Amino acid sequence: MSTLFLLALGSVLRTVLAQDTLPSQQSVTDYAPSVNVECPDFSTTSLIRVFSPQNQSLHPEEAAYVSSRQNTTIKAAWNDWLGDGSALGYNVSVFQQVFPKVGMAIPGGGLRAAQYGAACLNGLDARNGSAKAAGTGGLLQVASYLTGLSGGSWVTGSLFFNNWPTIPELVFGNGTLDGWKLDLPLVSPDGDDVFSTDNQYFYGSILWSVISKANTGIDTSITDPWARMISYHFLNQSSRQDFFTNSTAHGAGQLWSDIPQIPAFQQKLTPFPLIVADSRPANSNSTTALSPDPIVYEISPFEIASYDPNLSAGMNLTYAGTHLTNGKADNGSACVTGFDQAGFIMGSSASLFNQIFDFAHNTLQGFNSFGSSDSNTLVYVLQRQLRSPDTFEDSAATWLQLIDGSSNGENVPYGPLFVRSRELDVIVTIEGSADDPNNWPNGTGPLATQSRLSTLLLSSHQQFPPIPQTAADWIATGVRQRATFFGCNPQTPGEYPMVIYLPNAPPINGDNPVANTATFDLSYPTEHTQIFFNQVFTNTISGFTPNANTPDPNFGKCLQCAAIDRARSKVTPTVDRSSICSQCFDQYCYDPANPPSQSELPNRKLIFVDPTPEGLSKIEGFLGDNKFKLVGAVIGLIAFIALLCGGLFWWKKRRDKQMQYTQVRNFHDDDTEGLARKSMNRYQLSDDAVPS
Ligand SMILES: *[C@@H]1O[C@H](CO)[C@@H](O)[C@H](O)[C@H]1NC(C)=O
Ligand SMILES: *[C@@H]1O[C@H](CO)[C@@H](O)[C@H](O)[C@H]1NC(C)=O
Ligand SMILES: *[C@@H]1O[C@H](CO)[C@@H](O)[C@H](O)[C@H]1NC(C)=O
Ligand SMILES: *[C@@H]1O[C@H](CO)[C@@H](O)[C@H](O)[C@H]1NC(C)=O
Ligand SMILES: *[C@@H]1O[C@H](CO)[C@@H](O)[C@H](O)[C@H]1NC(C)=O
Ligand SMILES: *[C@@H]1O[C@H](CO)[C@@H](O)[C@H](O)[C@H]1NC(C)=O
Ligand SMILES: *[C@@H]1O[C@H](CO)[C@@H](O)[C@H](O)[C@H]1NC(C)=O
Ligand SMILES: *[C@@H]1O[C@H](CO)[C@@H](O)[C@H](O)[C@H]1NC(C)=O
Ligand SMILES: *[C@@H]1O[C@H](CO)[C@@H](O)[C@H](O)[C@H]1NC(C)=O
Ligand SMILES: *[C@@H]1O[C@H](CO)[C@@H](O)[C@H](O)[C@H]1NC(C)=O
Ligand SMILES: *[C@@H]1O[C@H](CO)[C@@H](O)[C@H](O)[C@H]1NC(C)=O
Ligand SMILES: *[C@@H]1O[C@H](CO)[C@@H](O)[C@H](O)[C@H]1NC(C)=O
Repeated sequence: MSTLFLLALGSVLRTVLAQDTLPSQQSVTDYAPSVNVECPDFSTTSLIRVFSPQNQSLHPEEAAYVSSRQNTTIKAAWNDWLGDGSALGYNVSVFQQVFPKVGMAIPGGGLRAAQYGAACLNGLDARNGSAKAAGTGGLLQVASYLTGLSGGSWVTGSLFFNNWPTIPELVFGNGTLDGWKLDLPLVSPDGDDVFSTDNQYFYGSILWSVISKANTGIDTSITDPWARMISYHFLNQSSRQDFFTNSTAHGAGQLWSDIPQIPAFQQKLTPFPLIVADSRPANSNSTTALSPDPIVYEISPFEIASYDPNLSAGMNLTYAGTHLTNGKADNGSACVTGFDQAGFIMGSSASLFNQIFDFAHNTLQGFNSFGSSDSNTLVYVLQRQLRSPDTFEDSAATWLQLIDGSSNGENVPYGPLFVRSRELDVIVTIEGSADDPNNWPNGTGPLATQSRLSTLLLSSHQQFPPIPQTAADWIATGVRQRATFFGCNPQTPGEYPMVIYLPNAPPINGDNPVANTATFDLSYPTEHTQIFFNQVFTNTISGFTPNANTPDPNFGKCLQCAAIDRARSKVTPTVDRSSICSQCFDQYCYDPANPPSQSELPNRKLIFVDPTPEGLSKIEGFLGDNKFKLVGAVIGLIAFIALLCGGLFWWKKRRDKQMQYTQVRNFHDDDTEGLARKSMNRYQLSDDAVPS
């Protein structure tokens, strides 16, 4: 499960020459990190950067990237977006040195959140003609930061590892790019028959990657096969033609720390990316959602870090996976590189397997439809792995377990954007969370962040602006169903950032919604993705007209008003809010003293209607309605991944000649062993298939 045995936040490294650290990207076995790599000289170099909440510092390369963009590409983008400002009632030339610093957050929620994130970003992208014409296209170009969590991290990673293409090209492909291919199910890309030749090839390749990693002595977990499955869709090396072959590495060997070499990054065209993952407290048996206490980590192209006051440290990402003691590796050649596989980083953030089991009742929800003995076996295997990572062989080291960034309730990856030293003025929420029973957001994520900021992170982070205080109020005020600006009127400049909230919501024209799909839907007919995309795009550029079902022709201007607003107080003399922008704010700002009402949003349809019912897979058809569709997908995912892992661990054990019988028995009780053997047969894995 969920546990990602990521690296000890104490690990280290060496001054390796770039060329010996860069793995090739030729084979799926390039997924294996390099171990026993020469470390940097610890007498002159540290892999750990320590700071304090009172004196936070950013990684110098992050600071340099963000600041140089602010004066170049971002400045040009603001001017391109707002023009001279006269349409808003401002003179933009006075703001040239004080353009607000903008960050964007894309939350988790599987393929729904990924598609929502992509389609919404497209509506904010100046490269899209319709978005540009609406006035919303341009916000993406002025953003300094882009954070992703879980499904949101897939969009983020995919944009980078495909060199920041336009979003329709990224998602649908264009002849050069292969697209996301979401019609090929994540877990069984050749369809429901897991024994089909192509699925067998696929599992073989996945397992080959994971085994190559296990062979280095580094722990593997269910996050590894999951990471590999994601890579086939969101990285850039899998076409439909070669999907089931070993002719490409399918993204193995592409490292998160390689992002600075990507051309679009070098040209400073992209925001600075940050992925959020939670940690599971060591020795906790936490199998449910986490409390707010555990440290939240962020992974940048330079380091894995946390600005939470209790940690306030970062570690060189290149050497992630190295075991450090007091900042030093065990010896001069005990370093690890290549651990930060792009797929693994995206998989870690999205590894929420510890949350989908109901441990209180020792069952998987709905699993009984498959017969209770299988169910018990799987629950056992999963529980076992979740609870006792130490039972994995080779795990003498103290691994930091990173899990889905939403596990503490903060489904929106806000944390890094509120870090004081980042000095953000505007935070855009690309809110594709599924909170309520119809898979719409209801404020749960923002409320969790607000609470964490105001209790645990007072010394290190900015505070959240006023928002409705319960999910019921998010619903009653309607703010979760239309663009809303929070924090329009701080008492003092800098009291909190402006939060621009762009939620996944029913189409404003009253159409049936197709974008509120379940988190565990693991495939989408291309036609569904297409309709999903258009619906979200239209909502994003339209804003809303109170008591009507028509777009707001002023929404683009209103979004610009919100984005630029903080600049007014940074110039001398300060500039008053223009009357155009004041009118916008009357409509789009949330005023706690005078809250809006959901009744201003008539004829919104909340219930999902499948636009491509014929696209239902057999198992979904068998299980029937939506509820069971969800459950079916979850079970499928878990079952297949458990089988893969079961097979892998069984193989590892069997292969280890020094293994004691007692230990073998401990690891595999009868059920587990049976399961593992079954999976071995199923995947026709033999020692021959194992790379040497
Ligand atoms: C990581 O450490 C190596 C060796 O000291 C160094 O060359 C590299 O610049 C560091 N990377 C970052 C992002 O700090
Ligand atoms: C803050 O940290 C920087 C380095 O990160 C250091 O140079 C500076 O002296 C520190 N300031 C204080 C007041 O501790
Ligand atoms: C960017 O501009 C600001 C304000 O003009 C200046 O203080 C800063 O040094 C500039 N940064 C870079 C990297 O040029
Ligand atoms: C905008 O401000 C600049 C000085 O910052 C001034 O030169 C220019 O005339 C102003 N434009 C308008 C239309 O007021
Ligand atoms: C903008 O995006 C929409 C929605 O995906 C798409 O239909 C349209 O073709 C795009 N326009 C351009 C000019 O890229
Ligand atoms: C895929 O992306 C990587 C990393 O950006 C790049 O080095 C490589 O050339 C790309 N490969 C293809 C086939 O586009
Ligand atoms: C596909 O999109 C990429 C990225 O924008 C671009 O470099 C490439 O030329 C496009 N290919 C085609 C065939 O349009
Ligand atoms: C790719 O390699 C793995 C490991 O050898 C194997 O299981 C799988 O069947 C191979 N795929 C193809 C298409 O040969
Ligand atoms: C976790 O579970 C194990 C085995 O069930 C038990 O021995 C241990 O005491 C538990 N730890 C905590 C902190 O509850
Ligand atoms: C920080 O540490 C203190 C005491 O060690 C603990 O009470 C608190 O919960 C920790 N806070 C976080 C955010 O982990
Ligand atoms: C260095 O440490 C690694 C990992 O702990 C170990 O495998 C290796 O044998 C050690 N090398 C030496 C020379 O002690
Ligand atoms: C809001 O979402 C949370 C999280 O899914 C859920 O537990 C709660 O019941 C929802 N509340 C309302 C009023 O929809």
